Amino acid sequence: MHYTAAANRYTSMSYRRCGRSGIRLPAISLGLWHNFGGVDTPENGKKLIHAAFDAGITHFDLANNYGPPPGAAEEFFGKMLASDLKAYRDELIISTKAGYEMWPGPYGDGGSRKYLISSLDQSLRRMGLDYVDIFYSHRPDPDTPPEETMMALDQIVRQGKALYAGISSYSPEQTSKAAEILRQLGTPCLVHQPKYSMLDRWVENGLLDTLATLGMGCVAFSPLEQGILTDKYLHGLPANSRAAKPSGFLKAEQIEPGIMEKVNRLNEIAVSRGQSLAQMAIAWLLKDQRVTSVIVGASSVEQLKNNLGSLENTLFSDEELQHIDEITAKGEK
Ligand SMILES: NC(=O)c1ccc[n+]([C@@H]2O[C@H](COP(=O)([O-])OP(=O)(O)OC[C@H]3O[C@@H](n4cnc5c(N)ncnc54)[C@H](OP(=O)(O)O)[C@@H]3O)[C@@H](O)[C@H]2O)c1
Repeated sequence: MHYTAAANRYTSMSYRRCGRSGIRLPAISLGLWHNFGGVDTPENGKKLIHAAFDAGITHFDLANNYGPPPGAAEEFFGKMLASDLKAYRDELIISTKAGYEMWPGPYGDGGSRKYLISSLDQSLRRMGLDYVDIFYSHRPDPDTPPEETMMALDQIVRQGKALYAGISSYSPEQTSKAAEILRQLGTPCLVHQPKYSMLDRWVENGLLDTLATLGMGCVAFSPLEQGILTDKYLHGLPANSRAAKPSGFLKAEQIEPGIMEKVNRLNEIAVSRGQSLAQMAIAWLLKDQRVTSVIVGASSVEQLKNNLGSLENTLFSDEELQHIDEITAKGEK
């Protein structure tokens, strides 16, 4: 059946400026790392994309290797663009990345100009796009001079294959260096995509300050620790969970008693706030205005809707914040 986006799709989402740029991103974005691969049900993926866009999620985050198999999520999203989202292309921020292993041989991994440029060409073909909105260096490559990686991003933007450049998982020092090289080349670094959650607070040790100084946005990934920061694992390991599936990046061993003790205590705070733990975990990130957007994953529309509910309460009392700090020991996992 033909898809028409909800007429009221811009009424409930809030949009935050990405650093000192002209672009605003939805407070909640949707990531296609899991749940949109060849092993997943396309019908479910379709429902998720529809529900997201209908709720004002304009930003969809991909990477060359999302699947499995690698490339499958981009292929799926390409089909969605062709069949359902074509008329809405200018309402979308589509991002992709290169940095992890994608194809065999010396040019399918890392940070070389050769890899980044050919990988983006492949991503564009898979999605049937002329350009993506944001192209990321997925991770710093210690063996490639940062000048080479940044020159590739600059060229990609100048060629119009991406509108903006971004970096992911760079340290504060690597971020400053990358941003400076890009600034000299005349292409600003729009955004950094770090992992950030109540249980992983490494960005608080300098990165958030660095981004604020540089005028870059911060798009946080895995805000729910792949599902650990939800009520999913409170009573064991459900069969339909990422940790139980062979294709999931989350391993059953990661659901360990020490972590679950913290999760249970965090859940009590969430309950006292009238939120699900997932909602509190997202709201806790959004309390900081330096966080432009939180990229959630979801395996069902129900989960996505639950996560969207976090926007109803992003305020925390000092007492709640202190309590969360005590439990998470400032991010010591
Ligand atoms: N730049 C990078 O290096 C990088 C790395 C990782 C991720 N990312 C990006 O960040 C996105 C999000 O990462 P992520 O998938 O790890 O995010 P996440 O939001 O931490 O975890 C998502 C998973 O948590 C579970 N979940 C979500 N909402 C729930 C709810 N309300 N109640 C119960 N369970 C819930 C689902 O797992 P089940 O399947 O168990 O239901 C879902 O697939 C990725 O898709 C990708 O775009 C980027």
